[in-house]
Amino acid sequence: MTMKEKTLLNRNEVIQGPSPKVLKTLKDFPSDHAALYFEGYFGSALIPKLSKIFQLPEEQIIIGYGLEDIFRTIFYSIRPENDIVLTHEFHYTYYDKYLNFKNIRLENFRLIEKQNEFAFYIDDCLGKIGELRPKVVLITSPNNPTGNSINLADFEKILNKADKTTLVVLDEAYFGFDENYNQQNFIALLEKYDNLMILRSFSKLYALAGLRIGFALCGKKVKEILCYQNFYLGGSRLLEEVAISALESDDYYENLSAEIIADRRYFTSEVSKLENFEVYDSKANFVLVKVKKEVKGSLEQELDKMDFSISKFVSEDFMRVSIGSRQHTKKFSEILAKIG
Ligand SMILES: Cc1ncc(COP(=O)(O)O)c(C=O)c1O
Repeated sequence: MTMKEKTLLNRNEVIQGPSPKVLKTLKDFPSDHAALYFEGYFGSALIPKLSKIFQLPEEQIIIGYGLEDIFRTIFYSIRPENDIVLTHEFHYTYYDKYLNFKNIRLENFRLIEKQNEFAFYIDDCLGKIGELRPKVVLITSPNNPTGNSINLADFEKILNKADKTTLVVLDEAYFGFDENYNQQNFIALLEKYDNLMILRSFSKLYALAGLRIGFALCGKKVKEILCYQNFYLGGSRLLEEVAISALESDDYYENLSAEIIADRRYFTSEVSKLENFEVYDSKANFVLVKVKKEVKGSLEQELDKMDFSISKFVSEDFMRVSIGSRQHTKKFSEILAKIG
């Protein structure tokens, strides 16, 4: 089977789809909301909603067409060839793609590989902040592709070490798949650190990757650092209304998240029994698996025969597996079990 005929489900999209309330909003979208701008200027329906949910002033919220759009805003604000972005190794590949294109220097601090998990090497991060004085410190938590997350105490060390004019960006695209995450504690940091940005996407937990919606919760000085102004004529009314419906579908998304966490647990436990694979703890809707060199060829042959793909080699030895439908996850673990 060639790649063309395969259903590609390996980019951590949530294929179960959005809530019925979201679908109804799409279906019933009123004609005048399509025809007219928001009333007045700088209008938004979503910003007041987010302001209420996160108890944050409206001025401290930015909406974008996916996090990719917000990253463009962040990277656009820094000077190519002068400023440095510091992130960790094993990061989301888009950061390289865009920063290389813009000629912006990207530096990495280390991740430590432990028995069954990766961890951010915080001392290395603090050292590099002191040495390089980066314009942006970018932490992805949970991280793509390793699946590990940062704890509050470590994250605060980073905030305390960074210059006040350095943007400290926490990319939480994979929010919602970690039962132990304490949202309140992280959001509370926005009160204390004016240069902090917490990014959230509707692409993953909310199963809306194709619609492109994301937002940033910002400390008080972020917009000034970014030189950012909200859209004069407002954003997309359709997307904002869809996002609001998603935020009003708690029961649906709690169930969806519980299902994905249960499937991730099942997959991790099955793969941990195998000789030729090593599996890492994940707080996201994907799992990183290390593949022994000797079986990589036979694994690829087996995967080639499948009519779907939920995996992707992110380096020579490491494969990231998206946890989507139960049926695909089960079938995929059976293939790995066959190899042993
Ligand atoms: C870590 C990380 N951040 C951001 C994004 C992009 O999110 P969005 O779809 O909101 O642009 C992704 C997409 O896979 C991601 O893995």
